[in-house]
Amino acid sequence: MAFPVQRMRRTRRTAPLRGLVRETELSVGDLVYPIFVAAGEDVRNPVDSMPGVFQLSINHAVEEAREAYRLGIPAVLLFGIPEQKDEAATGAYDPEGIVQLATRAIKDAVPELVVITDVCLCEYTSHGHCGVVEKETGEVLNDVTLELLARTAASQAEAGADIVAPSDMMDGRVAAIRSELDSEGFHNTPIMAYAAKYASSFYGPFREAAESAPAFGDRRSYQMDPANAREALLEVELDVEEGADIVMVKPALPYLDVVRRVREATNLPLAAYSVSGEYAMIKAASQNGWLDERSAVLEALTGIKRAGAEIIITYFAPQVARWLSE
Ligand code: PBG
Repeated sequence: MAFPVQRMRRTRRTAPLRGLVRETELSVGDLVYPIFVAAGEDVRNPVDSMPGVFQLSINHAVEEAREAYRLGIPAVLLFGIPEQKDEAATGAYDPEGIVQLATRAIKDAVPELVVITDVCLCEYTSHGHCGVVEKETGEVLNDVTLELLARTAASQAEAGADIVAPSDMMDGRVAAIRSELDSEGFHNTPIMAYAAKYASSFYGPFREAAESAPAFGDRRSYQMDPANAREALLEVELDVEEGADIVMVKPALPYLDVVRRVREATNLPLAAYSVSGEYAMIKAASQNGWLDERSAVLEALTGIKRAGAEIIITYFAPQVARWLSE
């Protein structure tokens, strides 16, 4: 009888042996925690499709940020829900806008926490699209939008944002934002570009949380077709040429092949956004008793890191921080 010479099970026998040969270690330092900041006072509205996630007024957002910092999470990502929306998305670049005010408050309270601000118009436009819409045709106008995005980014940097993160998918926006930041004196503010952002159904719960669902049409004329991977590499190439400091793939779980390919194509830091629908899936299944939440979350996030992302944006960040410290 011939026995196997190589026995892979030898190094799987005990926890210390498994630890010794482990290739990927998820750590709290990898995580970015998204927070939805709402106008108003003492607001703490639960988001139905994202159990455990809330729309928070600035005072509560500051507390949430403080807790994230205490847990060792290095960064938060801010999304704003303004009181008023209009066709020109004025709330996005208002120096006293919701994200600008929240950024100042969080940087005052927890100066060492990295504050990343979402640069997009969809939360601020009355129609919910990520850019200026031409009335007659319904087209989302690229170049007009660039100016507003650049103003938004500069006003966020002015408020103290450590990183600005454009998620709109207009062409040329990284260059437009870079040039505006530089001319306003913010040459040290990095841009984390949502380079490969897909037109995904997994953003559904976010649109409830951010009240940003488009009133007509969809986002397929600017976000990427889920069927394409080479195109993601072109998007990354362009963003790098335009001055991106960090590139991102979004969503994460259905696009791990893209994460891997981008990792191999660039040496810039790579972020992956594990989006609202990924959070909702695991939450719903575990609330039904169909999945063990803790092990499912840690497995999913470890997979994202293994695929090549060193920055992981996840609504599970505080929970993960607690699990990892136990
Ligand atoms: C804004 C934006 C979206 C997300 C992040 N920034 C929504 C969208 O493009 O419709 C989705 C994040 C998530 O689902 O967690 N453009």
